[in-house]
Amino acid sequence: MKAKILTLPGDGIGPEIVASAVRVLKRTAEKFGHEFAFGEALIGGAAIDATGAPLPAETVKAAHEADAVLLGAVGGDKWDNAPVRPEAALLGIRKELGLYANLRPAKLFPALKGASSLKAEIVDRGIDLVTVRELTGGIYFGERGYRTGAYGREAYDTESYSEIEIERVARIAYELAEKRSRKVCLVDKANVLTSSKLWRKVVTDLNEDYPSVRLDMMYVDNAAMQLALAPWQFDVLLTSNLFGDILSDLTAAIVGSIGVMPSASLGATTVGMYEAIHGSAPTLAGLDKANPIATVLSAAMMLRLSFDLEEEARAIETAVENTLDAGLGTADIGGTLGTRAVTDEIIARMQA
Ligand code: IPM
Ligand code: MG
Repeated sequence: MKAKILTLPGDGIGPEIVASAVRVLKRTAEKFGHEFAFGEALIGGAAIDATGAPLPAETVKAAHEADAVLLGAVGGDKWDNAPVRPEAALLGIRKELGLYANLRPAKLFPALKGASSLKAEIVDRGIDLVTVRELTGGIYFGERGYRTGAYGREAYDTESYSEIEIERVARIAYELAEKRSRKVCLVDKANVLTSSKLWRKVVTDLNEDYPSVRLDMMYVDNAAMQLALAPWQFDVLLTSNLFGDILSDLTAAIVGSIGVMPSASLGATTVGMYEAIHGSAPTLAGLDKANPIATVLSAAMMLRLSFDLEEEARAIETAVENTLDAGLGTADIGGTLGTRAVTDEIIARMQA
């Protein structure tokens, strides 16, 4: 097949990890006879430096014209005081592309058991869950601002969800669960928040369309505790933008390293955006130390979810797993190799 992939390397370690994933994608194209055309555009701090804005209109246009987008990372101290911060670009492009569902799989690789933050007896029961995070609504996009209250200056952010926003992301969670262990756990704060009550109503009603899927509901504080105590109980976690941001970092810690956690952001079309869930790690930038695996696995998700190339996705995932099994990796997972060398090892395992 032919596909147009737009890369957005961004800041910090972004360019290095994107370069790794592109090398792996090129190898995949060669091995399976596909034609991937790669384009590149500016985002984040790099875009601020070049154009003054973190998300230039040309970048949005290029993303709309691509079949899928591969993002590195954005942000860094350098732009902390910029009028519009690099992170705004991330939120902006998610919104522009209508990517309302963010899939963050957390699967424990056998070789990384020792790197998990949890005790062996917990980890031995296995961890294989996916957080489905709502990505274009809630408090990230709600009304916000400053105002003057009785005691002076106040700042506020609002959490607001419409039924339609809840339903469309819930459908993605249910459909995913149908292909997995058929369990969805809705994570919310319905004992306090009105928006959570609407989530419960909409998600419960929708369960009728997915009768083979069991729906559980859990308050977010308990969910955080359960992820640390008994993560094997979860299959698909469905949650809001803010709770999903927080819990997915926790799921990264329990599977060993945020350096191996990929993600896919999807919407109404197959044009998805794929990125590691970690940030730009400015202190590691340019040092060939960053773990490329999260971005490489994100590229595998792209092949599966945007291009329907299951075998190709698996070939990458297997090569990553075999690399880890061989005890090879970057420092964050206890290895001694650099970014490029880990990428070489993964590619070497795709030759067969
Ligand atoms: C993530 C990140 C972003 C988010 C930040 C950088 C805005 O933490 O993708 O999880 O909160 O969505
Ligand atoms: Mg985050």
